[in-house]
Amino acid sequence: MTIMNILGEKMDLFAAKADVLVLPVFGGEAGAVDAVIARLPEGIRKSAARSIKANEFAGKPGEYVAIDVHDSPYHHVIIIGLGSMTEATLESAREMIGGAIACTRRLGGRSLAVEIPVSDDGDVADVAEAMVVAAQLADYAFDTYKEKNGKKRMKEMTLVIREGRDVLRVRKAVERGCAIAGGVTVARDLVNMPAQVMTPSALAEAAERIVKEAGKNFSLKVLNREECEALGMGAYLAVGLGSEEPVKFLHLTYTPERSSKKRLAVIGKGVTFDSGGLSLKPGDGMMTMKCDMAGAAAVLGLFTVLGQLQPRCEVHGIVAAVENMPSGKAIRPGDIVKASNGKTIEILNTDAEGRLTLADALTYAKKLEPTAMIDLATLTGACLVALGEEITGLMSNNDELAQSVIDAAEDAGEKMWRMPLEKRYKSLIESDIADLRNIPTNRYGGSLTAGLFLEEFVDNLPWVHLDIAGPAFAEKPMASYLGKGGTGHGVRTLVELVERM
Ligand code: BES
Ligand code: ZN
Ligand code: ZN
Repeated sequence: MTIMNILGEKMDLFAAKADVLVLPVFGGEAGAVDAVIARLPEGIRKSAARSIKANEFAGKPGEYVAIDVHDSPYHHVIIIGLGSMTEATLESAREMIGGAIACTRRLGGRSLAVEIPVSDDGDVADVAEAMVVAAQLADYAFDTYKEKNGKKRMKEMTLVIREGRDVLRVRKAVERGCAIAGGVTVARDLVNMPAQVMTPSALAEAAERIVKEAGKNFSLKVLNREECEALGMGAYLAVGLGSEEPVKFLHLTYTPERSSKKRLAVIGKGVTFDSGGLSLKPGDGMMTMKCDMAGAAAVLGLFTVLGQLQPRCEVHGIVAAVENMPSGKAIRPGDIVKASNGKTIEILNTDAEGRLTLADALTYAKKLEPTAMIDLATLTGACLVALGEEITGLMSNNDELAQSVIDAAEDAGEKMWRMPLEKRYKSLIESDIADLRNIPTNRYGGSLTAGLFLEEFVDNLPWVHLDIAGPAFAEKPMASYLGKGGTGHGVRTLVELVERM
């Protein structure tokens, strides 16, 4: 994607050079809208007042008016609502900029200048960063396969700081925002790429590119089937038996310049296509299953950002990449496999493959003796039933780590909700003839029993499991700034978390 030129400049919005000028307004208070009209150049004040009245614009979220301007360097002024100042959050600024960019595009503009709106208790740098991330995500399009590249991308966005605000801090925030958005974009592209190209080998190549680009503090180990066999990864390898595509186990490492007390392992589910295997999914259920490597994509997105931000914390990224296909060589319902921690698993449904790959990935991660582990996985359809399409299910054996992930997600603008690892439900994944069964004996609470299954491979290490089955892939737009397809969900939260560790 073309990186938009985002400048932090202390200047008057109406002196900015752009096709469209954007004036965000906190609504709700008497006089707020009049105050905005008063700030407009003389020549458009009357027509602006007329449009505002005609549209009953009051500065609510999602409301805007676009004013045509003649004889000036810009051709439109957009006045756009943020909602009341007391209720506005960083998400209001993200939604606002997503709306402003959509509107600019409709008006035929390719550049915009926008004022950074700051509430009384807000911080200009935080708002700027949120706006930059959202603007870059709003400008995203996956049009690699279109004859005519579909969406007109923005050329430039200029951020305007109002009186007395810190230009240098905003410049830093802009840089950070661009880095984060770059990582999310990498993740979105990986998810959107069809499974016919985004194979386990292609994921390994992407990891190689990212690590190379990130520089000297980064390394990558790629294990093939034989090497994984030697480590006893019977659960993971069973999933790959039906596919023609060779498995690739990825281990990325970031070692910060100064040695760190914290060591984070981030494990991403990397099933490049989930047909269900012999427990084949119905056609409809398979349509979005190229997204079953979204956890892996988030890990690679995170590493892209780490390369730019070089935080203090040591980070390991682990992906057991594999394709889940049916064939004469595929694993069968009823087969029993042994994971690398010695536990045996009765596979009763080959479509519950994610937990099999994660069993060995978590065991591998544990051996690195991390201070915390986080896995991200499009693990269960049940999570969509429980929390809907936009919210991640979070499960954890550690309250403190769980809370720090929830806080990071909140600030980063990703929705997560904690669900319990209920001990009594463990009986549902007990097998008569092996240590565990890969599907529970009833269909209730399917996300929780999947979480409990993973916990068997974690021991007592602080660990958070993120079931991202809902928000990883948007079948309809998830925000004004986040369109259909791969969302890169998780990258923003992980960056926030790593920086706080
Ligand atoms: N990859 C799917 C889960 C999924 C479903 C992700 C929809 C995103 C959207 C996973 O491998 C799966 O098939 N899970 C089964 C588990 C069941 C067989 C216990 C499911 O959720 O139906
Ligand atoms: Zn599956
Ligand atoms: Zn799956």
